[in-house]
Formats: sequence, structure tokens, C-alpha cells
Amino acid sequence: MYNVPNLGFVWQNFDAIVAGIVRSIERAHSAVTDGRILVNSGQLLDTNINRSPTAYENNPRAERDRYGANTDTTMTLLKLVTTSGQPLGAVAWFPVHCTSMNNTNHLISGDNKGYASMRFEQDINGGTLVGKGPFVALFPNSNEGDVSPNTKGPRCVDTGLPCDAVTSTCNGNVEKCIAFGPGSDMFESTRIIGDRQYRFAKDLYDKASQEVSGPIEYVHQTINMENVTITLPDNTTGKTCKAAMGVSFAAGTTDGPGYFPFKQGDTTNRLWRKYKSRVKNATRELLSCQHPKPVLLPTGDLKWPYPWQPSILPTQILRIGHVLVASVPAELTTMSGRRLRDAVKSAYEMNSQQNISVVPIISGLSNTYSSYVTTFEEYQIQRYEGASTVYGPYTLDAYLQQYRLLASRLAAGTHNQLPSGPSEPNYLNKQISLVPGVLFDCSPGGKKFGDCITEPNGEYTIGSRVKVSFISGNPRNSVRDESTFLAVERFDSNTNKWTLVATDANWETRFLWQKVGFPLFSCHSIATIIWDIPDDTTPGVYRIRHFGDYKDWTMTVYTYYGSTKQFRVSAYHH
Ligand SMILES: *[C@@H]1O[C@H](CO)[C@@H](O)[C@H](O)[C@H]1NC(C)=O
Ligand SMILES: *[C@@H]1O[C@H](CO)[C@@H](O)[C@H](O)[C@H]1NC(C)=O
Ligand SMILES: *[C@@H]1O[C@H](CO)[C@@H](O)[C@H](O)[C@H]1NC(C)=O
Ligand SMILES: *[C@@H]1O[C@H](CO)[C@@H](O)[C@H](O)[C@H]1NC(C)=O
Ligand SMILES: *[C@@H]1O[C@H](CO)[C@@H](O)[C@H](O)[C@H]1NC(C)=O
Repeated sequence: MYNVPNLGFVWQNFDAIVAGIVRSIERAHSAVTDGRILVNSGQLLDTNINRSPTAYENNPRAERDRYGANTDTTMTLLKLVTTSGQPLGAVAWFPVHCTSMNNTNHLISGDNKGYASMRFEQDINGGTLVGKGPFVALFPNSNEGDVSPNTKGPRCVDTGLPCDAVTSTCNGNVEKCIAFGPGSDMFESTRIIGDRQYRFAKDLYDKASQEVSGPIEYVHQTINMENVTITLPDNTTGKTCKAAMGVSFAAGTTDGPGYFPFKQGDTTNRLWRKYKSRVKNATRELLSCQHPKPVLLPTGDLKWPYPWQPSILPTQILRIGHVLVASVPAELTTMSGRRLRDAVKSAYEMNSQQNISVVPIISGLSNTYSSYVTTFEEYQIQRYEGASTVYGPYTLDAYLQQYRLLASRLAAGTHNQLPSGPSEPNYLNKQISLVPGVLFDCSPGGKKFGDCITEPNGEYTIGSRVKVSFISGNPRNSVRDESTFLAVERFDSNTNKWTLVATDANWETRFLWQKVGFPLFSCHSIATIIWDIPDDTTPGVYRIRHFGDYKDWTMTVYTYYGSTKQFRVSAYHH
């Protein structure tokens, strides 16, 4: 299901991610050294808002009263240093969606978390290029299911008025209700939300004093999430259901609206009646299990070419001394995450021989993906997150039961006797890819790949924008991992050599690629490179280079490069 809007699976993307992960593990492994871990946490305000507050409000008042806000504001940080105190890395969990860049963005971006990571690493690594220094800063997500970075909140884009709170619509239309901020456009918003996470994490890092000590252990078990029976606190039982997505899933969120006539908070069967026959009808049994969710897609019954959503889920807790990281294969809402952390903490502490106070952390979206998890009460409201809670109203209770089991076994030291659970299927050889490959590239008469066709001005001042363009090949001929599509270089008159100043990984550069002519059939394309000259730039002589690969009509791929003329960057306006 997740691959449908992308026109299927993209091997090149998958391979690049796998290669990057494997390389990271190899490098970490070959750099293993003795060191210390410290933990710190604090409250980071003004960096997230709840995007489904009407669902949150349905949680019991007594429970809501325990918390100051309808999102979690705690950032928890692990600081890793060598025995002699040299920085190694940091991991900072904070719940907020990576949707500062909205769904009109076509640039590859790490969003607010990527920005935070880049700034923190640059801060410690000094002058090294982005991603190349020894210090590593990670910004994993947590219980961000109902948490948006667009802190000005949603409004109607046509009238500027507030949206309808329950359905997130403007005059009945979900497409016009969009959340913005805190910046004036999505680039500025990404930078601000990323910057706040970076600065706060750096402060926690600098002030961390609580040492983490004790063993490193883990417990892992897969479960069939479509078939869990839960004993509830009042001794009645609940059951999870076969996977299904509700009608409000198609409405999207205020971070990325879906389609009219769908709206959030829909528990009626009106639209379901209209759309149900398109793919497959939900059975009576499924509807009653999933109640009050009007089922749009009975994904648990859709098995071609392989199941549309997973049923076998990996569950896991990683223990680092008194820190417990619960890896959860879904996006938990704020209150779901609070309940899960409480369950892990109390199950562990009750079953431990030691008098120990553990720090529970949720690492969201881990190991596989199975959409969202709301509380039973939030589920009744059927906002986007409730409609995307795929295993029914008791999904969270099934997680609580499972993670209590994991935590208690880990605490009692009996986790190695836990059965590993049903094996997870591997559907890699059943993937369908509908995105066409690169046919071939061509350059217009008299021009070569890499020729600069829009040259820079002779001179720029710091703070201004350089925009140049080149005849290019399709960037999909090579993702240029470990490398770059562009280089900003400064001439060093002492050595008579060009020094690399920025690559395509830098925030201040953008690499835009566009076909010329009718997109599907044209072989001619242009790469535009933007460099927003940062305040800390050394005045001097610069040039911008473009690196790429083109495919000729014999399907052979060749590397090319090109350069602009040199230009001057000066500090002051004349
Ligand atoms: C995305 O952000 C841009 C500003 O950067 C804004 O013009 C546009 O309306 C936004 N679109 C959506 C769908 O959020
Ligand atoms: C569901 O779980 C029960 C035990 O809780 C088991 O007897 C049954 O076979 C399971 N069904 C499926 C389809 O896995
Ligand atoms: C649930 O059952 C257990 C034992 O089976 C009992 O100790 C407990 O009091 C019961 N709880 C409720 C709310 O009835
Ligand atoms: C779903 O049910 C409707 C009747 O309610 C029927 O007309 C339609 O053919 C069914 N669709 C499928 C895919 O079975
Ligand atoms: C457990 O540890 C806490 C804090 O270290 C202490 O206040 C408490 O008395 C201890 N409890 C027992 C039963 O040892």
C-alpha cells in the first residue's frame, strides 16, 4: 500500500539506503573504542504542536491533567565520549514529524531532523565538509504520531480563517486546510525547527553529567499483530483485528492534506458506501472488530502481489545500563507513547532484582512500518491517526501487553528464553517497479554535457544568491553516494589550488534538475545550482562545478564535469 503513490518500489533508492547503512555499521565497528555514555533530558518548547487536538481531548481528563501539554516536549540525549573525554557522538530523541518541508518539495532533504544533525556535527567537527567529520549526531524520532512541526497551526489557505477543528476542513474541503510556520516559507520553517532541536541538544550535551552504567542487552520478538488477545485492566478481553485503513486516512493531515471529499474525524459510512466497491469490500466481521472505523481499505484481506500491510511485527527493547529504548514499528501518538513508556518502566522496575529507576525512551518507526497507533479513546474520534491505526481499537493495548512482557523478561534476565516469534516474510523478489528507467541523455547541438549555460556575475556580496546552470545528464544514472553533484570552490592563492568549500549536502546549496521539452520523451536536461552565500564565507575568488553522469544511446554511462567561470565574493556592498 505504501508503494502505490510512489508508482512502486525503487531499487536504486533502496540500494543506496542499504549501502549507506552497511557502510555506517562498518565504519562504526572499525572505530570501536573505550568510552563513556552520559544521559540528559530537558523540555524543548515552541518546537511542536498537536495536529489532532480534538482526538487528544477524548483521553480521560485525569490522565490529561498529569501533563502540561498535548505534545511531549522532553528531549532525551545520550552523549558518547572517549575515556579521555573526546567527543564521539550524540543521540537526541524528540517527537516531531519531519514535515517542515511540505509535499510540494521535490528536493532531497533530511527535513528538520537532518538540519539539526548537520548543524550539531558541524559545530563539533569544525571545518570538515558536511557528513565527513568524525563526530556523529543522531536525531531519531519518538512518539510523533500526532505531532506537527508547523507551529503556527492550520488555517484555510483561501480565506486565512481557522479550519473546522473536528474535520480539518474549510467549507467542507480538506485540501484547503494546511498548517504553516514558524518561518515564512518551508525552507525557513525547516531551518528554525531544526535549529531549535540542534541548539537544545547541544546544551543538553554540554551539561550532561549523569553517567550511564551497566550492561548492554536486548530483547526481540515478532508477533502477529492481527491476532492478539488482550486482558484489559477490568479483566475483560479485547482483540486486535485484521489490518484495515479508515476513510479519514484518505483525508491526510494538516501537514499534507489528502483529497476532497474525504475529511478527518469521519465515523459515518456515507463515503465508505460510495467507495467501498472499488478495491475490496470489508467483511461484516472486520467492520465490527474495527468499529467505529469505516473501513476504506481492508488491507489485511488484500494479498496481491503480497500483503498490503504487515501482520508480523518486530518488537524490541534495547537496554543500555538504566536506559531502555523501546523500538516500535509504528508512529505512536503523544498519549500512546506516554502509556507505553509508563508500561515499560513499571514492568521493568517491578521485575528487577535491583532497586533501579530506568529511563524509558521510544524510538519510533523502527524495524518495519505499520502506520499509526492511537489510544482507544483517540481511536473513537477517527482523525487521520485513528483511521491509520490498522489493527483496530485495541492496537495500543496489544503493544502495552507485549512491551510489558519484553521489559519484565529483560529485567528478570529471562529474555533469552523468550521464543523468537513467527518469522518475518521477505517480499523483496515480489516488488513491482513502475517508475521507468533512464532512456538516454542528449545534449543540444554544439554543446557538451557539463557546459555551463548560465554563468555567474563577476562579483557577489555575502548574503546574496548565485544561480548557474549546466547541460546535464539524468541524475539517476548514478546517485553519486559518498560524492556530490556540485562543488563550491575557493581559489587559494598560497597554494595555487582550488579548495572545496561546500557540496550538495550543505544547506546553502541546492541542486535542481529539469528536463527540457516534453518531460517523458525528452533526452535533454538542465541542472541548476544555487548557492546562498553564507555570512561566514571568506571573501575571495570562487567557482561552482557540476559533476554528473550521462547515458548515451548504447546505454553506456559516462561521467562528466563542468565549471563556471570564476567570480569574486566580497564582504561589503560597494
Ligand atoms: C508549501 O510551502 C510553500 C512555501 O514554502 C507554500 O507556498 C505552499 O502553499 C505550501 N503548500 C502546501 C500544500 O503545504
Ligand atoms: C490466533 O491466536 C490463537 C491463540 O491466541 C491461535 O489459536 C490461532 O491459531 C491464531 N490464529 C491465527 C490465524 O494465527
Ligand atoms: C482481575 O482478576 C484478577 C485475578 O484473576 C484479580 O486479582 C483482580 O482483582 C481482577 N480485577 C478486577 C478489576 O476485577
Ligand atoms: C462491494 O459491495 C457492493 C454492494 O454493496 C457490490 O456492488 C460490489 O460489487 C462489491 N465490490 C467488490 C469488489 O466485491
Ligand atoms: C531505592 O532507591 C531510592 C533512591 O536511590 C531510595 O530512596 C529507596 O530507599 C530505595 N529503596 C529500597 C527498597 O532500597
